[in-house]
Amino acid sequence: MSAFFERFFGDFLQSREYQEITLSNPLDMHLHLRQGAMLESVLPFSARDFALGVVMPNLNPPIMTTALALQYRDEIVRLSKGLDFVPFMTLYLHENLDKGELTHAYAQGIRILKLYPRGATTGSENGVREVVSERILEILHVAQDLGFMLSIHGESNGYCMDREFEFLEVYEFLARTFPRLKIIIEHVSDRRSLESLERYENLYATITLHHILLSLDDVLGNLMHPDLFCKPMIKTPKDRDSLLACALSAHPKVSFGSDSAPHLQSKKYSASAPGGIFSAPIALSMLASVFAYHNKLENLQAFVSDNAYKNYELDSVLGDTHKVIKFCAQSWEIPQSIACENSAISVLFGGKQCVFGRISK
Ligand code: DOR
Ligand code: ZN
Repeated sequence: MSAFFERFFGDFLQSREYQEITLSNPLDMHLHLRQGAMLESVLPFSARDFALGVVMPNLNPPIMTTALALQYRDEIVRLSKGLDFVPFMTLYLHENLDKGELTHAYAQGIRILKLYPRGATTGSENGVREVVSERILEILHVAQDLGFMLSIHGESNGYCMDREFEFLEVYEFLARTFPRLKIIIEHVSDRRSLESLERYENLYATITLHHILLSLDDVLGNLMHPDLFCKPMIKTPKDRDSLLACALSAHPKVSFGSDSAPHLQSKKYSASAPGGIFSAPIALSMLASVFAYHNKLENLQAFVSDNAYKNYELDSVLGDTHKVIKFCAQSWEIPQSIACENSAISVLFGGKQCVFGRISK
């Protein structure tokens, strides 16, 4: 564990006095909720802390039609009843999407298309073979006219540590070709992506908790931790620090997206571990802790809500939702895992003390 972490979970979290923190409508702009038993296990953590979550469509089968998205949305609404949580649905972009389906999706309130390059990550088997191809550009043209946003898992199929960087030329090409399409660089992991944000007005980004706190050293610098393995891979300390600085400054084009991505320990602790970090149970309290540690609490509301509210035009979606989440100094031990099916899901930073705790309503 890096020196930063020793300090963070050591002195700081044990000794400081905290002021109370109040957040209004926290938003998780990148969230994997899964389906079936796993959905039931993980959903309460996000629904309790966040007013809205952008729900990823990489299920099995993927959410490739409006009908599937609406069915999935209904299921989430049913399971989160009483928690004041809005699932903001995404549609899995594939080569057979046509104008009729896109028009229907938009009319039903779906605002985000999610593009996975085929083979890039979990559930991307049905993703796009060639992003810059006639068919995909046609679809994006229609999407732009209808008013969709485009969310991208941007990785090439090159060397794993360079994949996001190599994909930047595709982001920039799309940003130039579709100037009215808002494009989101999801889960930024490489500091060079931040420079692209400055070059194109219509490029935006989400940042996770794990990419601002960890470097590859934490994943496999000593013992190997499959629970910290994710896509895009966690990179160098320099990348981590640039992303952290970007989040702490609440860059207006950047919002929080946890990319909380649960996998059963039975899969994670096997010879072929899937990428994904389950952070939903701690995401908001850890963010509060990190911003407090760096004396930047005044920027947390923008990072975790206001920026997204504006950039994703959420006023009509959230209506008069007013979810107020308060934290105070209240030490609690992060659970190692939560039970699920016949296995368990490891929680990020399980076993450590978190000093910020939710004040229940
Ligand atoms: O680490 C990841 N896990 N990255 C992704 O892009 C997908 C996610 C998942 O669904 O497990
Ligand atoms: Zn994701």
